[in-house]
Amino acid sequence: MLTHLDDSVTDQWAEIERFERDDYQDPALAEAERDRIFGEVPFIVAHSSEIEGANTFVTVELPRNKAIVIRQKDGSVKAFVNACRHRGAELVTQESGKCRIFSCPYHRWSYDPSGELRTVTLDNTFGDFDRSRFGLVELPVEERHGFVWIVDNAQRGIDVAEWLGTEMDAILASFEIDSLVSVDPHTYRRPTNWKVLQDGFLDNYHVKYAHPNTAGKMLHTNAVALEDFGRHFWFLTSRKSIDRFIGQDISWTSSMIEHTIESCFLAPNTMLLRHATHIELLTFRPVGASPDEAIMQMRVMAPTVEDSGLTEERWAKRWRKNWEILIAILHDEDFPILDGSQRALTSLDAGTMLLGRNELASHLFRREIRRLLAAGA
Ligand code: FES
Ligand SMILES: [Fe+2]
Repeated sequence: MLTHLDDSVTDQWAEIERFERDDYQDPALAEAERDRIFGEVPFIVAHSSEIEGANTFVTVELPRNKAIVIRQKDGSVKAFVNACRHRGAELVTQESGKCRIFSCPYHRWSYDPSGELRTVTLDNTFGDFDRSRFGLVELPVEERHGFVWIVDNAQRGIDVAEWLGTEMDAILASFEIDSLVSVDPHTYRRPTNWKVLQDGFLDNYHVKYAHPNTAGKMLHTNAVALEDFGRHFWFLTSRKSIDRFIGQDISWTSSMIEHTIESCFLAPNTMLLRHATHIELLTFRPVGASPDEAIMQMRVMAPTVEDSGLTEERWAKRWRKNWEILIAILHDEDFPILDGSQRALTSLDAGTMLLGRNELASHLFRREIRRLLAAGA
């Protein structure tokens, strides 16, 4: 990193890559992505602290299913398709809550937090059937490194450690994210392809040009040191405060964390950023098979009030301020540009476009998307 800054260079991909608007506009491609990516591999849907305590749940909109994610009595987590097995009514309409029994609003069938069908209304007239086969449909879910991961496909299994591979699994373990709490997660629905959003947050090339008065003041632009693990990757970017070390013959110490941001790209749709004081997590997924609608979730994971040594009031104020800064940059600077890309690429003659050698992280993101699409073809 320090030699990169000294020489004004960055890690690079082997060549410039060309691409077309279809990558972000083609409905057939969007459908393939929904099934071959989100229907096949694990991705993060919540931090464990968002469903603390038995019967606590969140509802999540995934590309293939609307789901309920709920903590069980024994501390494990289950995920269900949020649809009644009678006539398909939406079982849970709240975004989050705590519930001992799910009661369907349509005819009041009810289900346990473990998904079992408990009561059938007026069952003397309904007729006999095997209730054990009409519990809520389960989705594969696993908790690891403080996150809840799902494969959005009832026909699949899940193995997060295997998906992450030894290197990324070890990096995430070292961050001890399970000891942190998720502070006020934010969900956005954007009129933008999920890959346009993901690319926007992998991009260190735009920092000082799109954010001249905010992030660009604090962070270096176009200087990335990256380690590629074949599927997922890790990279370092830096704050300008690192400059005092440039040209010095020093070795890496843990205090360097104050001058850097460690980023992990967790394929297929997640960026985890480690700052000196907290972890940020950005996830992106399409809405159904729509090429031009996506859900972006942003999370801040911070030490608990007790671990921070702050009073509850100071703690709350601190993270509120952190969120205000993040949201301002997002709303005023990133979203207008990224939504604009989606609008611009509705132009049928937008022309062939280029991804530079310096845009290494985006090349690796595309490599993995291509591989997943090919694997499911
Ligand atoms: S649809 Fe749920 S009880 Fe009828
Ligand atoms: Fe940005």
